Amino acid sequence: MKQENKEPEYGNWVSKKLLYGSGTLSLVFLGLSFLFPILIILALFFLLAFVYFVYARLKFSPAGGNLQEKVRNLVLDYLEWDGCGQALDIGCGNGPLTIELAKKYPQSKVTGIDYWGAGWDYSQNLCETNAERKGVSDQVSFQKASASRLPFHDEMFDAAISNFVFHEVADAKDKRDVVREALRVLRKGGVFSFQDLFLVEQIYGKTDDLLAEIKSWGVERVELVRTNNLDFIPRSLKLPFMLGKIAILYGRK
Ligand SMILES: C[S@@+](CC[C@H](N)C(=O)[O-])C[C@H]1O[C@@H](n2cnc3c(N)ncnc32)[C@H](O)[C@@H]1O
Repeated sequence: MKQENKEPEYGNWVSKKLLYGSGTLSLVFLGLSFLFPILIILALFFLLAFVYFVYARLKFSPAGGNLQEKVRNLVLDYLEWDGCGQALDIGCGNGPLTIELAKKYPQSKVTGIDYWGAGWDYSQNLCETNAERKGVSDQVSFQKASASRLPFHDEMFDAAISNFVFHEVADAKDKRDVVREALRVLRKGGVFSFQDLFLVEQIYGKTDDLLAEIKSWGVERVELVRTNNLDFIPRSLKLPFMLGKIAILYGRK
């Protein structure tokens, strides 16, 4: 039965665990500072982190302007697809992009994969409930897998998307290998749009080198567009570990 009247639960990029972690550490160091006064510095540091993460979580949420949705949907804006065939959403979280892509292209089939680790408030179950609430259950499917070793044959998909995932893939030492793995399962001529911390040189190297390397894998066209400096992102959230180093890689294999 379809439940289109209920809102989906897409979760928040600032997880509850991050809030509880920083809040708890602040209290622990505050308590210890009665014995070792120097620890008040750490208590204040974690208190500041806690307040910052509460603010970011609010800004990302629907109640605070839905910044998360605006940033996430940029991935779809840069995907130059006709909507025919099969798409893959890598690290789908609670499935927002998988579902939006399916809604945008009613002829498509979309697979969302994620490893749904303990650090996040995401699950396959919530993905399926959300798809049902948005009325696209018959177009989408979800499965557990790591972005570092996708359980698909070469060139299986016509389109591939991913948002804010590749830098997190713990079992890939070089995160460029995760980009390559995503492109492996895309057919020749297929289109892609990936958003991540592509401007962090320590992770991806210099932009020109990154683009040259991707082209050397046989990709017909790849562009990088900076999404970190958009006006609707508040300055306070443009810190490097938040949205300050994000960019989209898009193109055609
Ligand atoms: C910031 S969330 C983004 C989720 C979703 N793409 C979105 O835009 O809401 C990062 C996601 O990456 C997933 N992730 C981290 N490492 C992964 C891996 N090795 N394989 C697949 N997914 C992974 C996490 O489970 C989480 O869902």
